[in-house]
Amino acid sequence: RRVLLLYSGGLDTSVMLKWIQDEYRAEVVCLTVNLGQPGEDYDVIKDKARRIGAIDTHVVDAREVFAHEFIKPAIKANALYGGGYPLFTALGRPLIAKLAVEYARRTGCDTIAHGCTGKGNDQVRIEATVATLGPELKVIAPVRSWQMGREEEIAYAREHGIFVKGGAEVTPYSIDDNLWGRSSEGRWIEDLTHAPEDDVFQLVTRPEEAPDTPEIVDLEFEGGVPVALNGSRMGLVELLEAVAEIGCRHGVGIVDHIEDRIVGLKVRDIYEVPAAAIVLRAHQELEHLVGTIHQNQFKTGLDQQWGYLVYAGLWWEPLRHDIDAYQDRVNEQVTGRIGLKLYKGSVRVVTRESPNAVYDATLASFAESGGLFSQTASPGFIELWSLQSRMAYQLRERASRA
Ligand code: ARG
Ligand code: SIN
Repeated sequence: RRVLLLYSGGLDTSVMLKWIQDEYRAEVVCLTVNLGQPGEDYDVIKDKARRIGAIDTHVVDAREVFAHEFIKPAIKANALYGGGYPLFTALGRPLIAKLAVEYARRTGCDTIAHGCTGKGNDQVRIEATVATLGPELKVIAPVRSWQMGREEEIAYAREHGIFVKGGAEVTPYSIDDNLWGRSSEGRWIEDLTHAPEDDVFQLVTRPEEAPDTPEIVDLEFEGGVPVALNGSRMGLVELLEAVAEIGCRHGVGIVDHIEDRIVGLKVRDIYEVPAAAIVLRAHQELEHLVGTIHQNQFKTGLDQQWGYLVYAGLWWEPLRHDIDAYQDRVNEQVTGRIGLKLYKGSVRVVTRESPNAVYDATLASFAESGGLFSQTASPGFIELWSLQSRMAYQLRERASRA
């Protein structure tokens, strides 16, 4: 038997790597996917996997695909689950699982192993993807079945010579991160009355420590996609990294979020999403400017549906593609520039510019605007506009008096 293990180099998947060889009696091929998580050393991860006995190790740099095929549609859909979570993990899992299917086939594995627990969303996202794209493959999730707690895992690791970061005194936060954001779970975060401790913020500067001088960020979009930052054109990966860096400096993108998981649990997450906080805000503003009131109202509901499908692990669901077709079409108009002012954690839109803006300064102006907008037509409009509401109000009045 041969198993493809989605390997991060952390404690869970390192213990799994050994456990699968000993208990599951299989050879293990490790796959690590680079989605732009900052500060990862992939040579160290490969070395570690070899030392724990992997017969083969692969690292895939999937940042371009992630940005263009996953983050881009999320931007077009203004994707924020529960009003605060920009879905970075939910977007990454279907890609990671798709690569797992490809590498399992290529390396002759009949099983895919992942390190998710049985309480989370990630198991759903990964297994739904494998079941869709690689139905011949088996999936195992040892963390769900092996009944080891954190302490036992650490003991198991020590016993088998697996390097454990930090030491056992402090349980680390459970972290997941990529180009589009970072989450922390566990420890005091599970206590809803506990305000965030400073050490959880490893990405974004805490707003109180951010510079006293604000900074303006100028983002240019073409067809709904950010293409230039402060006047210089760059690729999407590079742009997201650069925006994240500026956002981090100014304390932007901290979200303390209560979230409804698909498996029924309500949990708290601490998110650091500097790039998403800026890019989504700018995109939404520009889209609002170029869309009609009807397009904008309709799209809010679609955006919500899109975010929910992706959150819930149904990336490959045809409805998601159908909605994308609409999103692409509407976003053809979303071209222009948005200026945002960043200051100690806040992001505020300060300038807007677009050739497609459904806006005419002379029409909107308080100054006399000539013949285009006829103010004398307004009283008639108000009479008809309020007709049904007035009739219903009167009926109710009469009924309450009777
Ligand atoms: N709550 C977020 C989500 O469901 C983040 C999950 C983080 N995953 C992790 N394995 N630490 O997408
Ligand atoms: C996990 O439980 O494996 C991580 C959190 C999640 O999947 O939602």
